[in-house]
Amino acid sequence: MAILVTGGAGYIGSHTCVELLNAGYDVVVYDNLANSSEKSLERVEAITGKKVTFYKGDILDRDRLEEVFSKEKLDSCIHFAGLKAVGESVAKPWEYYENNIAGTLTLVDVMRKHGCKNIIFSSSATVYGDPAEIPITENCPKGQCTNPYGWTKSMLEQILGDIQKADPEWNVILLRYFNPIGAHQSGTMGENPNGIPNNLMPYITQVAVGKLEQLGVFGDDYDTPDGTGVRDYIHVVDLADGHVKALKKIEENAGLCVYNLGTGHGYSVLDIVKNFEAANDIKIPYQIKPRRAGDIATCYCDPSKAERELGWKAKYGIKEMCADSWRWQKNNPNGYED
Ligand code: NAD
Ligand code: UFG
Repeated sequence: MAILVTGGAGYIGSHTCVELLNAGYDVVVYDNLANSSEKSLERVEAITGKKVTFYKGDILDRDRLEEVFSKEKLDSCIHFAGLKAVGESVAKPWEYYENNIAGTLTLVDVMRKHGCKNIIFSSSATVYGDPAEIPITENCPKGQCTNPYGWTKSMLEQILGDIQKADPEWNVILLRYFNPIGAHQSGTMGENPNGIPNNLMPYITQVAVGKLEQLGVFGDDYDTPDGTGVRDYIHVVDLADGHVKALKKIEENAGLCVYNLGTGHGYSVLDIVKNFEAANDIKIPYQIKPRRAGDIATCYCDPSKAERELGWKAKYGIKEMCADSWRWQKNNPNGYED
């Protein structure tokens, strides 16, 4: 039996493929390469010494999905495929709702027709909106999202939960990621954003490699220790391992479950800059800029439910996150394009 990994050529998906293969699973990746390169899968194979079966296809393409499910014996799906740029989702809401929601509905329909009723879904801390409690537990109510991307995550959680309640043969695990950064320790795989990065760590590494002049720090007047935004950064390899642990939970017929995946530690933007500088001995010039629309002051989780129920706990700290992000960027200044 194999695991279908939609979006498996992307940043989190490719790192998860490594952990799945190392844990002995067969992996089938389905990705339209809209935001990734097939080269990431060559790196996965080089690291693990194992083969990945790859199908180029869109989750909106029912016929192509039917073909894959007819050819492969698929037991579970880890569903990463989706568009994720917050700002772009504000400008192109239809495209985001179509891709993420209609795409997931099509995927899930084909899955159930083929008797594959196990899904792990990539959700996000964004579903908590401006969180009602810090640290955020899974009991914290979902909040108002500030952009269509966030709403697709919130709505898909609802949709997948309703599907599981109507048909208890389904196992649905909703994983709410906090802020994934870092890269595989080999320095051969990492995040590969198109154009100017929106997220903090890829922006910092591009300043470090000389592609960008300086970091803009979005606001220093938040109600946080140094005034800059605080987030729960998590190493992507730890996050990937969380999916392997979630698969074990599915094997116990868990029904519907939701877990925060974070470290439980909050770091400010300036903490990240300082840690990056110290870990890599590089200066990151920065300038304080106005707040970015839609940002919140503080977001970090209580990850103890995942530890109790999945036996999962983040192993890597901020030093490894900074060192591994930089190793990837330094060795691959143009991502997978070289
Ligand atoms: P990514 O863009 O690197 O990976 C997503 C992959 O999905 C890409 O390879 C892309 O080509 C593919 N894809 C997109 N639309 C598709 C479609 N219609 N059909 C087939 N493939 C499609 O992003 P990532 O950072 O690896 O994120 C993976 C998942 O985790 C996404 O669902 C994202 O929303 C979610 N998530 C990411 C973060 C983050 O900060 N990176 C945080 C929370 C949740
Ligand atoms: N920041 C800067 N300058 C930058 C980029 C970011 O100061 O150039 C700051 C932000 O204001 C924020 C922090 O760095 O305080 C982190 O910002 P990111 O854009 O890296 O991450 P976010 O917390 O805004 O959002 C990310 C993903 C979302 C996801 C969320 C929770 O982009 O998709 O984490 O998982 F929903």
